[in-house]
Amino acid sequence: MKIGILNEFLQNEQQYIQACKDLDVDYEVINFISNDWIENIEKSACDIYLVRPSYKKDVWKRMYDERLYFLNKVMKKRIYPSYEEILLYENKKNMNYWLKLHKIVHPNTWIFYDKDEAKEFLHAYEDYPIVFKTSFGSSALGVRYIRNKREAFRLLNQVFTKWKFFNRGYTNWYKTKYKLSYPLMDDKQYNFILFQEKLNVKHEWRMINVGGSYFGHHKLIQDGFHSGGGKMGWADPPEALLNLTKHICDIGNFSSMNVDIFEDDEGNYYVNELQSLFGSNHPSQMYVDGKPGRYIHKCANAKWVFEEGIFNTNGCYDLRVRDAIKQWKECS
Ligand SMILES: Nc1ncnc2c1ncn2[C@@H]1O[C@H](COP(=O)(O)OP(=O)(O)O)[C@@H](O)[C@H]1O
Ligand SMILES: [Mg+2]
Repeated sequence: MKIGILNEFLQNEQQYIQACKDLDVDYEVINFISNDWIENIEKSACDIYLVRPSYKKDVWKRMYDERLYFLNKVMKKRIYPSYEEILLYENKKNMNYWLKLHKIVHPNTWIFYDKDEAKEFLHAYEDYPIVFKTSFGSSALGVRYIRNKREAFRLLNQVFTKWKFFNRGYTNWYKTKYKLSYPLMDDKQYNFILFQEKLNVKHEWRMINVGGSYFGHHKLIQDGFHSGGGKMGWADPPEALLNLTKHICDIGNFSSMNVDIFEDDEGNYYVNELQSLFGSNHPSQMYVDGKPGRYIHKCANAKWVFEEGIFNTNGCYDLRVRDAIKQWKECS
């Protein structure tokens, strides 16, 4: 078999390359961001194409959504992760539609494209603070707690077009490690707005499933947000969360997915995010009683079994490549 690796604007395909080298599988890197992407695919003749969509700019991610549609649905090429997983990636609107349609408990979310409808909503809403989020963006870059109606209306006026032509849009500010931030002026969000109810989040759990290997840990709070600091807290994930993660992956047919779950003060769980590709620099994404490892679901007796070992090498890409090969073998 031969694996195709689609390149990306920031060279994040490197980890797929490394995994293929380590696993000693034949691979080819394909220039997918080029004008010639169709010809490049046509001459490549690979059995499966591994994808790591760009995440820094919304327009780059949209390019993947568009081209992967034609690659997977029209050219009928197998891709990994699946098109459905990619469609949710870095898109908080799609993520919300998916959670709502599949009746997965999540924070109440409102997405408006009609400014008048958004105004009506804000006039009636009283439960401040409310959370504003950009659809695109990680590390809490586009998340703000809006304290009152005035602030919410100001944001609305900033995001929607005025006088039929003028739009300031919403700009995310990128935080550097030197306590300086700069505006991402070429990646504005405009003409829609997403609000979410603010929950009292006690913990945020990061649950992961890659090819049937399950992991979980706490995302620790930093500067008021659980996302972004990258600090992990080791805790044995409750069985309910392993089951919820499996349920989501089963109904979505997801094979590379992280499920971020809020736990509130009363111990209720709410799914906050689904991301098929995610930062994972630590070689183990879970420690139970001080031991690194993974959970495997044993279907025969519906039990979760802990296996000790280091499984998240190469940012989870080793697991992904193994899983992609396994999927291809099962279907051919
Ligand atoms: N509805 C909410 N209620 C309370 N806190 C929230 C809510 N949504 C997000 N947060 C906080 O903001 C952080 C970032 O939000 P998230 O939706 O995960 O965006 P990102 O993609 O930037 O990680 C979360 O880790 C959490 O700390
Ligand atoms: Mg998050």
